[in-house]
Amino acid sequence: MIEIKDIHKQFGKNRVLKGVNLEIKGNGIIAVLGPNGSGKTTIIKCILGMVLPNKGDILLEGKNISKDWKYRDRIDYLPQIANFPNNLSVQELIRMIKDLRRQPQADEHYLIDLFRLEPFLNKKLGNLSGGTKQKVNLLLTFMFDSPIIILDEPTSGLDPISLIRLKELIASEKKKGKSIIITSHIMSFVEEVADEIVFLLEGKIYFKGSISELKKKTDQPDFEHAIASILTHSYA
Ligand SMILES: Nc1ncnc2c1ncn2[C@@H]1O[C@H](COP(=O)(O)OP(=O)(O)OP(=O)(O)O)[C@@H](O)[C@H]1O
Ligand SMILES: [Mg+2]
Repeated sequence: MIEIKDIHKQFGKNRVLKGVNLEIKGNGIIAVLGPNGSGKTTIIKCILGMVLPNKGDILLEGKNISKDWKYRDRIDYLPQIANFPNNLSVQELIRMIKDLRRQPQADEHYLIDLFRLEPFLNKKLGNLSGGTKQKVNLLLTFMFDSPIIILDEPTSGLDPISLIRLKELIASEKKKGKSIIITSHIMSFVEEVADEIVFLLEGKIYFKGSISELKKKTDQPDFEHAIASILTHSYA
């Protein structure tokens, strides 16, 4: 379980998180939503210890993460923007990441098949298309078998077939009892995969609950309009 307690984060004068409280319990898929710049990636980076909050605590299984870096081994993370070294081949990068995480049993083969990456294994990362790079990004995340998975914009640049494969992959990881956190701006994708949503607005959690609860709260017939109605109020 992940507990986020009264997290505050500001970059210079920009107050991004102004007291975020969130409990992520057990297995299932939670989607963190919110407009561009609302702090979704910042929250994820706080969980990973890549951004240090100005105030507040984050606990994983009851233990404060600020005192223990080893907890990161239990999280598989897909970054929103993957800055791969351009001169390495896909195969070399896979080997390097396996060595770094010291989990030689990691299995990339079924992911190579799933995303049809075989023809690209010996190609340099700098020469890949955006969508193919994202498939490599997904492979590097899913080849490990950690109990927590964090996916920051996983659908980015994927073609329809790859999107179907990604949804299958997420569903099978969920079945294993994992806890999965996803950010996405694609509402149809969120509606399909998420058990629960969290909506970030102006540095705080504006809503947490199921999609049907959100529709009720906003008095809107569908999810997309429910989200749009929150955003129009906040932009007004
Ligand atoms: N390292 C940093 N230094 C300065 N400002 C930052 C830094 N990282 C993030 N920010 C700022 O924090 C705010 C939140 O950024 P964040 O990336 O968390 O948003 P997001 O909700 O993930 O947005 P998007 O939907 O575009 O991915 C933005 O105003 C951004 O410019
Ligand atoms: Mg982001």
